Amino acid sequence: MAVHQNRNNNNIIDNYERMKGIVLHGGTGTRLRPLTYSDVKQLLTIAGKPTSEYGFLQMNEIGIKDVCIVIGKIGGEEVKQYYGNGSKWNSAVEYVFQEKPLGIAHAISLCKDNTGDDDFVVYLGDNVIQEKLVESYEKFQKEKYDAFLLLVQVKDPSRYGVAEVDGNIITNLREKPKESKSNLAVTGIYFLRKPIYQYIEKLVPSKRGEYEIMEALQAMINDGKRIGYKIIKGWFKDTGTVEDFIDCNMLVLESIKENEKSENLNIKGTVKMGSNVALDENTKILGPCYIGNNVKITDSFIGPYTSIGDGCVIKGIDIENSIVMENCRIEFQDGRIIYESIIGPSCSIKSGKSKTRRTKLVLGRDSKVEL
Ligand code: DAU
Repeated sequence: MAVHQNRNNNNIIDNYERMKGIVLHGGTGTRLRPLTYSDVKQLLTIAGKPTSEYGFLQMNEIGIKDVCIVIGKIGGEEVKQYYGNGSKWNSAVEYVFQEKPLGIAHAISLCKDNTGDDDFVVYLGDNVIQEKLVESYEKFQKEKYDAFLLLVQVKDPSRYGVAEVDGNIITNLREKPKESKSNLAVTGIYFLRKPIYQYIEKLVPSKRGEYEIMEALQAMINDGKRIGYKIIKGWFKDTGTVEDFIDCNMLVLESIKENEKSENLNIKGTVKMGSNVALDENTKILGPCYIGNNVKITDSFIGPYTSIGDGCVIKGIDIENSIVMENCRIEFQDGRIIYESIIGPSCSIKSGKSKTRRTKLVLGRDSKVEL
């Protein structure tokens, strides 16, 4: 029996088969446009980290060190640049290319040679969940399910894959049903074994033209295979829309435990701060907030629930419940408020002739705006 330690130095008993990981970075990200015209959605940052890195780190914590990343036409090179060979995370990363977004099941099927005989976890790169994977991982292996899904109770199941359950087993799975008896959504985290590939091979495109992983799993159920599940307790977000991305930022910031050990009386609440941050005496920060490295802020009020990426310069503005990605310049003379906004990387926003004090923005990379 091998014993390894996760990042928190807790031992995870690893007497199971070796597991690999798959993280999906394909798809089109249409609901996050204009951000996704220039950037791949799974690399868009919340509190300084791409959304997909939250899943990557979760897998790392249960000892998954071999990860296959599926990239698509949008931003594939950027994904490769970011994760490289994975050594920064003490992992080995390989890439497969999905030419067209033909569905989650199709994306998974491209990783067949990479996962080989090993069991694996699939993580949709736009999903962020609070709960750790260790309990699910142990249940999947100890109770020898053929597949294992993380479920979450939701008010609007028609947006998701939906599961019906009986005891410990999932009895029915459907992708985005108009109506359903169940309020259990399938999160984008699947524990799978090699036989799933046989079921994917038999799929035909669904009405929306995709090879659906829910259909492959349903075919397993029809064949008498056992699919286990866990209903997660903490929060879950699919960051596929602007509203959900902003909500996810809020939830991630709420979970930040570190506090800036600063003598600065203008910083209140939980604030995670990078290095080389310059704040003048007229700037106040109200956590929860994240401020990246090499950031300069003057005459401003930041927070609550605001992430500011590396290298930003900010002047004369209140920013609340928003994400400002790396290398943005926001400079006002006349005091404005930006709220519930996503400002993509390297944007420039400055004073113009507008008299509007409160502004809500969604800006893609390199946008230039005068307000
Ligand atoms: O968020 C959970 C939901 O994710 C599940 O409840 C659904 O069962 C599942 O189908 C999925 O629904 P979405 O509508 O959110 O799927 P989306 O098209 O956004 O794709 C999910 C992720 O997979 C996203 O990171 C992009 C990636 N992807 C998607 C497709 C269609 C690929 O890498 N390749 C693809 O061909």
